[in-house]
Amino acid sequence: MNEIWLLLIFFFSFSLYYVLKNRLAIFFPSSKKIIEVVLDFSDIKKNDVFYDLGSGDGRILIEAAKKNIKVIGVEQNKFLNWIARRKMERLKLKNVEIIEGDIFNQDLSKATVIVAYLSISVAHRLQKKIEKEVKKGTRIILVDHSFKEWKSVKMKKIGFIPVRLYLK
Ligand SMILES: C[S@@+](CC[C@H](N)C(=O)[O-])C[C@H]1O[C@@H](n2cnc3c(N)ncnc32)[C@H](O)[C@@H]1O
Repeated sequence: MNEIWLLLIFFFSFSLYYVLKNRLAIFFPSSKKIIEVVLDFSDIKKNDVFYDLGSGDGRILIEAAKKNIKVIGVEQNKFLNWIARRKMERLKLKNVEIIEGDIFNQDLSKATVIVAYLSISVAHRLQKKIEKEVKKGTRIILVDHSFKEWKSVKMKKIGFIPVRLYLK
């Protein structure tokens, strides 16, 4: 009997985790290891314009901003933006702009590096926007999901989460 309950709890927890993480575009922060891979794949150079689309509490923005480039976060959640802005102030990072809004209302034509850790459906919608408006040569780092029909240049798994680098 106990085993059945354990199995049911496991199944329920896994289903809830799957729905929250992959179907709804809610906040799941990147781990330190994911951020390391994201920065490695970004290969940041001094004139880069770096976007984190769905920037959460700003943890990726901070690490990118330490490289002294222009960093832009777009996040729809007011509370997460409040946290991220407090962090930027505390660290005196002046090269970060946080835009409160929907990533689909932003002009991404100036981006040279784009990072996105979103749900499957949002990532696929973003792929269409990137195909239309992002310039050639832009590095796109996608955490957890893949773009349809695009071939990644690099891929690394952190636990069971893949991080992929695409070149536009
Ligand atoms: C999985 S979290 C990633 C957070 C952060 N990039 C990181 O890696 O730690 C996804 C974030 O995207 C935001 N988000 C999802 N859809 C969005 C949209 N259409 N516009 C703006 N932000 C969005 C969510 O609020 C959430 O904070």
